[in-house]
Amino acid sequence: MKRYEKLADEIAALIRTGLLAPGEKVPSVRHASRTYGVSASTVFQAYYLLEDRGLIQARARSGYFVREHARRPLHEPQLRAGAAQATEVDVSELVFSVLGSLKDPHTVPFGSAFPSPELFPLPRLARSMAQSVRDMPSHAVIADMTEGNPDLRRQIALRYMLSGVRLPLEELVITNGAMEALNLCLQSVTEPGDLVAIESPAFYATLQVLERLKLKAVEIPVHPREGIDLDSLADSLQRLPIKACWFMSSLQNPLGASMSDAKKAALYELLQRHQVPLIEDDVYAELHYGAQPPKPVKSFDREGLVMHCGSFSKCLAPGYRVGWVAGGRHAQRIARLKLMTTISPSVPAQAALADYLQHGGYDRHLRKLRHQLESQQGSMLASAARHFPADTRVTRPSGGYFLWFEFAERVDALQLFRLALAQGISLAPGPIFSATRGFGHCARLNHGHPWTAQSEQAMQILGRIIASF
Ligand SMILES: Cc1ncc(COP(=O)(O)O)c(C=O)c1O
Repeated sequence: MKRYEKLADEIAALIRTGLLAPGEKVPSVRHASRTYGVSASTVFQAYYLLEDRGLIQARARSGYFVREHARRPLHEPQLRAGAAQATEVDVSELVFSVLGSLKDPHTVPFGSAFPSPELFPLPRLARSMAQSVRDMPSHAVIADMTEGNPDLRRQIALRYMLSGVRLPLEELVITNGAMEALNLCLQSVTEPGDLVAIESPAFYATLQVLERLKLKAVEIPVHPREGIDLDSLADSLQRLPIKACWFMSSLQNPLGASMSDAKKAALYELLQRHQVPLIEDDVYAELHYGAQPPKPVKSFDREGLVMHCGSFSKCLAPGYRVGWVAGGRHAQRIARLKLMTTISPSVPAQAALADYLQHGGYDRHLRKLRHQLESQQGSMLASAARHFPADTRVTRPSGGYFLWFEFAERVDALQLFRLALAQGISLAPGPIFSATRGFGHCARLNHGHPWTAQSEQAMQILGRIIASF
């Protein structure tokens, strides 16, 4: 990373944590150059970058100021604690009816689970696909089905190593997206009727997997900024025969919460004491806004207790359906279950990704993508502060492309969803993220699409509907 990029990240962190407030003047170039011990031109480059990222703006003859994301910033939601119970899951109908509504390409896609495809290097990936399929040795078309593409496995292991996780290659199982990895992990450590600790709110597909496998959910509250409530988890582990945990320790979907390293270590110690395996869903790991990638809980794992699942769907290649799991002591069982079900993800798709990771400029793409998502987050926050009622609460995640909104209790999120859809705007209503149909006054909005006048108008319409409850 260049010096100006590092400086830009440091100042972005000051803005994100509120130390530099909206509307406040950013240190002058001379001052910043003295404070950070860098040249004036480095500071200028950093400020140009922050301007591109939508975080600061220049005012004629006055210097740079933090963009008015929120003159009247909305408050953050708070932790909603409560004793967890084991619950049968029955959400699929509701989830499918919401997902079905997202198919219309003319709808403003605030309910979508993906960023805009325009943000992915699809032409470059297509070149990798063509090249790698042309060069593929004939035996690989069959051999790569069992083990996975060896170059792809090496590239993924290398990325683990660079983020501080040493991973024996044998632990790695390449799967059809993270979704298959997560399914297989759960199947490898549970039987129908078992209890699984999940987050509250949780990614809706987690609920659907539990429903399909006839597992019971124990919902553990998640703090909107700091992640899983460890006291509540400790209490549930004490009281209930929980067989596995399925958590996201960084950029949790839907809240965007990220646990600190100390909390991740404490979570690991707790699970290790109870010998309960962790399925760590980390599909948004590459979309962090800060300079340092978040550490997974897997980095604290000494016993192979953590199954760490990742994917290229959110950051590079949606639709290629390539993901993986670093399966710890369960890797062999997971690999066998995969061979018994889908056998393998597409061999050409694996080869294309392997070629792209080696030659395509993946890290450059990720830097650009993160900056764009951060800038769009600023636009959506600013717009919400302009158009939504003042008692609305909203998260401010340090990565990804979701914001979680908590409205006044009287707002019915399912009714809001229907009224918004009638006006051509989708959103993900709170109840699809809960086995107990909680979060009835909450919604997740996606800011993964370039911000336009249409987005702004959609926020204004949503604001009017919310105020009408
Ligand atoms: C939290 C979470 N986990 C897993 C997945 C599935 O990822 P993939 O497309 O790689 O199967 C998603 C996608 O929406 C997700 O949001």
